[in-house]
Amino acid sequence: MCGIIGYIGEEEAAPILLDGLSKLEYRGYDSAGVAVYSKDQGLNVVKAKGRLEVLSRLVDGGKSVHGTVGLGHTRWATHGQPSDINSHPHVSHSGKIAVVHNGIIENYVKLKQFLISKGVAFVSETDTEVVAQMLEYYYEGDILASVAKVLARIEGSYAFGIICSDCPNQLIAARKDSPLILGFGKDCNFLASDVTAILKHTRDVCYLADGDIAVLKQDQVTIYNVDLEPIEKPHSHVDWEISAAEKGGYEHFMFKEIMEQPKAVRDTVSPRIRDGKVVLDSVNLTADYVQNLKRLYIVACGSSYHVGIVAKYTIERLVRLPVEVALASEFRYCNPLVDENTLVVVVSQSGETADTRDAMREAKRLGARTLAVVNVVGSTIAKEADDVIYTWAGPEIAVATTKAYSAQLAVMDLLTLYLGDLKGTLPAPEYDAILGGLQKLPEQIEEILSRKEDIQYYASLYFNNQSVFFIGRNLDYAIGLEGSLKLKEISYVHSEAYAAGELKHGTISLIENGTLVVALATYGTLFDKLMSNVVEVKTRGASVLALTTDSRRVQLEKETANIRPVDHIISIPDAHEILLPSLAVVPLQLFSYYVALLRGCDIDKPRNLAKSVTVE
Ligand code: F6R
Repeated sequence: MCGIIGYIGEEEAAPILLDGLSKLEYRGYDSAGVAVYSKDQGLNVVKAKGRLEVLSRLVDGGKSVHGTVGLGHTRWATHGQPSDINSHPHVSHSGKIAVVHNGIIENYVKLKQFLISKGVAFVSETDTEVVAQMLEYYYEGDILASVAKVLARIEGSYAFGIICSDCPNQLIAARKDSPLILGFGKDCNFLASDVTAILKHTRDVCYLADGDIAVLKQDQVTIYNVDLEPIEKPHSHVDWEISAAEKGGYEHFMFKEIMEQPKAVRDTVSPRIRDGKVVLDSVNLTADYVQNLKRLYIVACGSSYHVGIVAKYTIERLVRLPVEVALASEFRYCNPLVDENTLVVVVSQSGETADTRDAMREAKRLGARTLAVVNVVGSTIAKEADDVIYTWAGPEIAVATTKAYSAQLAVMDLLTLYLGDLKGTLPAPEYDAILGGLQKLPEQIEEILSRKEDIQYYASLYFNNQSVFFIGRNLDYAIGLEGSLKLKEISYVHSEAYAAGELKHGTISLIENGTLVVALATYGTLFDKLMSNVVEVKTRGASVLALTTDSRRVQLEKETANIRPVDHIISIPDAHEILLPSLAVVPLQLFSYYVALLRGCDIDKPRNLAKSVTVE
């Protein structure tokens, strides 16, 4: 939700800011802007509704805006629709102070009324302009003092970048509940929402914590606490390859990330298997603790929530522990039954999702131990959880998650084995079979990727359908949820995922001639039951695309020859049942991708979405 960047150094700032914003566009892309200071032009603010390229054209790739210090912003609108005026940076009424912001100022109405009563005139509908105006209201020649006063008055979440034309040799950064990092370059320094924006210039970074305020000069950075006392913070080295955050010849990040899944799963799994055992170095659960657990909660949003649904089936089956899967936005407000005998697992690619973060805080408050499964190192959720397991998927840029989802599934499998082992519920042969299967997943995913043209063909048959159903039972249902979300979010085709047995309790009335039903039939135990549901929809005119395992495909093809219960079959390699979701999701991702491509959608930046949802 909004990306911010700041640069102070010796080079022209605007091209650096634009380049950084291009890496942050996944965070929001309905408008963009820069504020650059130069002695001749003062504070020059250029901003525009639309994609970054609109802004880039306006400033001739940065060449028409001069100065070696500045801020940039790419927006996902919250307060005020996307427009030139509502775009950031926002400036105070004299034009002296400019602010970029990621987050929400919850008490902005009250503050706005207060400022209006003091004669301040507003031009935008945003909460952020209130901050710019307040900074000026409190400004008495010391911008840092004014920042401290404003921070004390505002409620909500923020990552701010601030520049004041009276002291253009510095930028100010401040954060609370929205990500913000500092980057230390040679003769220059940066602030940014995410390391990808500055990776070209430095790998030496520092993750700001809530309440931190930083003053960045060209050759020096000072970090203060809320009382403006200087504090020391450790630097971290980022070892991601720059290429990981670039398209590398692919047309879309999403496709690149789909293709990177074998690596993401391998990198996540391999280092955690030693001498035939799962070793989770960063997790400190004892056998006693696990044996006394009454319940496990998995709390997350969107695709990460779908990972939780898969894990519920596997953990309950193999660890014999009741698992509740909760949407983070609901968990927070449902007075959950959580205490010290509950383990709350939060799953988040970004580690910054506001609902998930706050659900985790609520779980902690209630006395539960929290374990986070996170992709972004140093993110808030990773820092605050009691235990962390990182998914080593590398940076994920496309808004629709693919490789991070697969890495999350792999972590949940590792966690299942780990818990099953501690609880003593997993017989050794099954443990070994799953572990062996997990290690084979990367090459099996590669095998599925090599069959992508088949899926492209099926997409070409169905891309015009207005409505698609994904049906499955048990783990197949769980994976259907993700397949359905992928399709709707990037191709704007309406789709539903249904537990196959539930369809006849109402929803089957929506099935008519030509409705596409994707029948997920990988789960052997329930294959026959699922096929009965397939016949039910087929009888009502549906076109059925079945997804099953290679060995069941043979069976299905034989049946298809006589009675045609399905129209087409996609298959995945055979694997241990609990690992099949990791394989089944891949054709579904590809199917959505190709459908979206054929429909001419903006695949990496679907409408109305942003990657990191840092607002409630
Ligand atoms: C869908 C998608 C979202 C995220 C959700 C949670 O493709 O990416 O549904 O899964 O916004 O985000 P994280 O995992 O960052 O907490």
